[in-house]
Amino acid sequence: MASITLDQVSKTYPNGQTAARDLTIEIGDGELLVLVGPSGSGKSTVLRLVAGLELPTAGRILIDGRDVTAVPPQRRDLAMVFQSYALYPHKSVRENLAFGLRVRRVDAAEIDARVRLAAATLGIEALLDRKPAQLSGGQRQRVALGRAIVREPKAFLLDEPLSNLDPLLRVATRTELGLLHRRLAATMVYVTHDQEEAMTLGTRVAVMRNGAIEQIGPALALFRRPANTFVAGFVGSPAMNLWPGACRRLDGRARVASAVCSIDLDEAGQSVPDGAELVAGVRPHDIDLTSDGDVTGRVEIVEPLGPVTLVHLRVAGLPGEFVRVIVPSDARIGVDDQARFRIRRDRLHLFDGRTGRRLN
Ligand SMILES: Nc1ncnc2c1ncn2[C@@H]1O[C@H](COP(=O)(O)OP(=O)(O)O)[C@@H](O)[C@H]1O
Ligand SMILES: [Mg+2]
Repeated sequence: MASITLDQVSKTYPNGQTAARDLTIEIGDGELLVLVGPSGSGKSTVLRLVAGLELPTAGRILIDGRDVTAVPPQRRDLAMVFQSYALYPHKSVRENLAFGLRVRRVDAAEIDARVRLAAATLGIEALLDRKPAQLSGGQRQRVALGRAIVREPKAFLLDEPLSNLDPLLRVATRTELGLLHRRLAATMVYVTHDQEEAMTLGTRVAVMRNGAIEQIGPALALFRRPANTFVAGFVGSPAMNLWPGACRRLDGRARVASAVCSIDLDEAGQSVPDGAELVAGVRPHDIDLTSDGDVTGRVEIVEPLGPVTLVHLRVAGLPGEFVRVIVPSDARIGVDDQARFRIRRDRLHLFDGRTGRRLN
């Protein structure tokens, strides 16, 4: 396996569209890095640049420290797996797995051994003599992964490989992929638009928007201390409450919702001028509904999620915004109730209203 480095990589397509902006990313040997972001944020472009299917406009790509920017894709020794599996319909699973090796003139005994090992790793031994049409979507996706595994590549590049699967199978396959990563000790770059998939899979997660990396770090670090309002709103489900203009900076502190509370700002906060509007953020499970709460809202929507319930409150002073609160599923609460709640002050996130940058 191998390390992969993007060194100040930019990509502008011939039509003028910039899909990667000065990206520097180091992916360690054996690491699983997840690239997550909305559609069009540049995730596939990054994978295609690493694979050599696109040339960067600026910057370098290194594999194991060696500059491969000018090396053609077939000589980079990376395996790509896409959302569409593109199996050969008339070949059996065994032949589908073996085909790439045969083309490379690997000898028959070696092919047989690698196919068997990959099939065992993926639990598809019983399917080896079937044709793709006789497989479920999840089984086909495993064969596509198997084709990558038999090549014993330096790294795996996976572009939304689970997007075609139905939700239950997606979750199961996601768990298997995590196990597979551990078993192969493989370097993997995994692209998804699904933040939940990113959070569960990634040893590290990079959040992309508009060709740039907004934040990169361990999944939980992004969840606990999002670097800006974009990451705050994108990572975590149900999404964080974000209230623009709900508080201001006064005397080095943030005064939230007309002095409901005040929070110390850190150094970043000290550079923001007094009187500046801030964005306050708090996750729905960091708000408690309690009869001695200091804020009152009217219940507009009650959504049972199973283990917990999501309540949407309308609060005077926060026009246009709901306050979303997670409550226990047995909480007695109904539409039009007046509910008192309290924000856990130590869980409040504060952002610069102008730049969106984190301040506490
Ligand atoms: N071959 C291309 N030519 C021109 N523009 C492209 C091409 N491929 C992607 N783009 C543009 O680059 C941006 C990033 O695309 P992409 O990397 O596919 O994003 P993602 O995978 O995150 O959805 C988009 O605006 C897209 O329209
Ligand atoms: Mg894409």
